[in-house]
Amino acid sequence: MSKISGQSVRVAAALALAWLAGPGCQPPVADTIKIGEYASLTGKEATFGISSHQGTLLAIEEINAAGGVLGKKLELITEDTQSKAGEPATVVNKLIARDRVVAVLGEVASSRSLEAAPICQQNRIPMVSPSSTNPKVTEVGDYIFRVCFIDPFQGTVMADFASQTLKARRVAVFTDVKSDYSKGLARFFKERFVANGGQIVAELDYNGGDKDFKAQLTAIKGANPDGVFIPGYYTDVALICVQAKQLGLNVPLFGGDGWESEKLVEIGKDAVEGHYFSTHYHPDVASPKSREFVERFRRRWGRTPDALAACGYDSALVLADAIRRAGSTEGAKIRDALAATRDFQGVTGVISINENRDAKKSAVILQIRDGRFRYLQTVTP
Ligand code: PHE
Repeated sequence: MSKISGQSVRVAAALALAWLAGPGCQPPVADTIKIGEYASLTGKEATFGISSHQGTLLAIEEINAAGGVLGKKLELITEDTQSKAGEPATVVNKLIARDRVVAVLGEVASSRSLEAAPICQQNRIPMVSPSSTNPKVTEVGDYIFRVCFIDPFQGTVMADFASQTLKARRVAVFTDVKSDYSKGLARFFKERFVANGGQIVAELDYNGGDKDFKAQLTAIKGANPDGVFIPGYYTDVALICVQAKQLGLNVPLFGGDGWESEKLVEIGKDAVEGHYFSTHYHPDVASPKSREFVERFRRRWGRTPDALAACGYDSALVLADAIRRAGSTEGAKIRDALAATRDFQGVTGVISINENRDAKKSAVILQIRDGRFRYLQTVTP
């Protein structure tokens, strides 16, 4: 994945010549700061990992082009979790034991972050999740951080949206019981929606990866809701929307950041039209910093960045800033510097790490219209 530039070839050649030149000269040593990344580059949530990785790698390349950190280049070593349980532990153990990374970036999905976080914690290797929102992730320990908001907030954002904007009174909730993210977000949504005076008229479950949701959707339809909250990931959500439409369940469907993928529209087509989800970032919300990022990202990858890319980008920037302030690549020192992150200007907003090692940031609500994700509103905490 790494490109060898003309410059680094020349430097390597010069070093080799110096080494051959005589006794006393040392062979060239790899002189980089190694950062691990684990992401779902393939499998059911492949677009999460690919997009997050593109943002992360762009940040690393830009930092290196500007001279690196502590006089060294950052080297990003990326491992694929294949969107599968079991892989995060394997690949993060490898990153730490074999590659000797000084810190780890990842994962997107909360269940996968929860699997690898204890390994980082035990090895005293700081981990920064770009976009895992379940509260339990950073509760694993004092080496575990995130640069995004958490689901007690995201749940209230969508509950208030349902009550106030959609004027929904009777809502059904459809939860992926295999996902910590889905279970947590469902609970936080329900608590707030009921506190708003709303009623949960049906609660149904599925297992991520299921293909047939018709039995549950028929039960949901029978409860006569005026909206359905679906805190799932895009591959499942797209099929749920298609089958809901086939069954004539014609009410607003809405969810959280897990909906965000171009695949949602590719699979869901007109069945996802008009529905809503919350997320971390939208390229149309223009801060100057975000606008420049969108341009650089387009130039590098030939596509417009989404929330996953923007969060990935910010995770690498925040980590690099912490290593710089730590003045060291020692785990405990990077951890202390990460914990001291205040008012960091990211592309997703201003990032301050709080006492729970989370960031407090705004959410955006998007609507799917004409096959695109349109910005509707920003909700500040
Ligand atoms: N927040 C989701 C989780 O914790 C992951 C996600 C983030 C998905 C951003 C899409 C966009 O599992």
